[in-house]
Amino acid sequence: MVKQSNKKRNRLKSEELNKKIKQCCQCFLHGTCTNIVPGEGNPHAEIMFIGEAPGAQEDKVGRPFVGTAGKFLDEMLSMIGFSRNNIFITNMLKCRPPRNRDPLSEEVEACWPWLLEQIGSLKPKLVVTLGRHALEQFFPNQKISKVHGHVMEGKVTGIGRQVFYVLYHPASAIYQKRLRNILIEDFKRLPKVLDLVRKGNVDKI
Ligand code: URA
Repeated sequence: MVKQSNKKRNRLKSEELNKKIKQCCQCFLHGTCTNIVPGEGNPHAEIMFIGEAPGAQEDKVGRPFVGTAGKFLDEMLSMIGFSRNNIFITNMLKCRPPRNRDPLSEEVEACWPWLLEQIGSLKPKLVVTLGRHALEQFFPNQKISKVHGHVMEGKVTGIGRQVFYVLYHPASAIYQKRLRNILIEDFKRLPKVLDLVRKGNVDKI
């Protein structure tokens, strides 16, 4: 009974936060995008995926990772026996940058409090960064070519200690066979990584 009411509370909290994000006008992008894309998924998921920013499809429908990169992500989730129901997924930016250009630092800064609120509210056991933008936001001096497939621990302001797993972005791996194979291999390790994180054995990874 208690568990049920906790679940309901988490769901309501997540819906409330999404409503607030949808009203954001902290940077210019809210005026150029069609839909703000807060993120979605299981509000008590153990894993939170963080991508870069909504693309054209996501902007159109207001949901994260629904285009080609999202389909590839879904394929990889099903390879490991997971689905969107097991995870929460969001982006660094909640609004699409025009013509999918790279996020500007002021846009990332304006959107950062929302991401912190999402992490603080979900309290995921594991944050999975997708691509270099998400990685560099938490670990500014790390290169994705060096640390993909690594588990990293970091201190996030206002959150505290957080465990991360670093992956290439599915969009960058779609057309590059070498990256695609690397991403799939890294992805397949995710259940084992989660299991060790659950047991508090991060140093054994
Ligand atoms: N790429 C991202 O980083 N996020 C999306 O939601 C879609 C594509």
